[in-house]
Amino acid sequence: MSDSDAHWHRRALEPNAGLFAILTTVAISIGGLVEIVPMFTIDAAKPGIAESVAPYTPLEVAGRDIYIREGCMVCHSQMVRPFRDETLRYGLWSRSEEYTWDRPFLLGSRRIGPDLHRVGGKYPDAWHYEHMRDPRSTTPGSVMPPYPWLLTWKIDPADVQASVVALNRVGTPYSADDLNNTAWMLQQQGDEIVGRMAQSGIEVTWDTEIVALTAYLQRLGTDREALSAEVAQQGEETR
Ligand code: HEC
Repeated sequence: MSDSDAHWHRRALEPNAGLFAILTTVAISIGGLVEIVPMFTIDAAKPGIAESVAPYTPLEVAGRDIYIREGCMVCHSQMVRPFRDETLRYGLWSRSEEYTWDRPFLLGSRRIGPDLHRVGGKYPDAWHYEHMRDPRSTTPGSVMPPYPWLLTWKIDPADVQASVVALNRVGTPYSADDLNNTAWMLQQQGDEIVGRMAQSGIEVTWDTEIVALTAYLQRLGTDREALSAEVAQQGEETR
């Protein structure tokens, strides 16, 4: 192929390294600006701190610590994606505001078990007790391992208080009251769960780990309806 047959691009641009470098830089910069500038200029792109998403209660913090210790996120994600198959199975898709107080986040990357972001309220408290004792008792054929020690091991209120203080230090807004009355709050919420489990003939005390884990699981995803309403008030499409 002679030079004169070559495409104009090859003749005018490619032998001219300086010009080619400048034009390439301009092209890449436009791509970069289009992505980066909106992040600084559009307020709506940044999730605000939603009022309907409250920090975890001390008992939920305790349950979350157990969830982390046992590595539940190895098999369970906490993110419902905005696809029809997911919303039909799990419920409303997850919004970023819901993770405001998740430190560390527990999104997970594998689903050996189902997503847990909407599991709160799906089952009665007693179901979680039985399921943790022996997953095959509630779900025949389940490959989830049993966690029988959760039914006897106790939470240490001083430990939970340390977690709450640590979360407060990195920005979770707990009041002085929350920080001083952690033990009392643990027992208040724990006793409610103990009462509901007792109706199913389960005897357990408020400071047992299964009570804390149940509090956490029952909380998951429950802010979403109120969050939808709050965001709708600000005039944004929510579902
Ligand atoms: C080896 C993988 C694995 C691990 C680890 C695991 N799970 Fe599961 N989980 C499953 C599977 C599979 C199911 C579906 C069958 C069933 O319900 O047991 C399940 C189901 C569940 C369900 C019921 C979900 C629903 O919507 O029906 C809950 C709640 C749950 N797991 C909580 C936990 C918690 C809490 C932990 C950590 C203490 C944990 N899982 C650890 C595999 C796992």
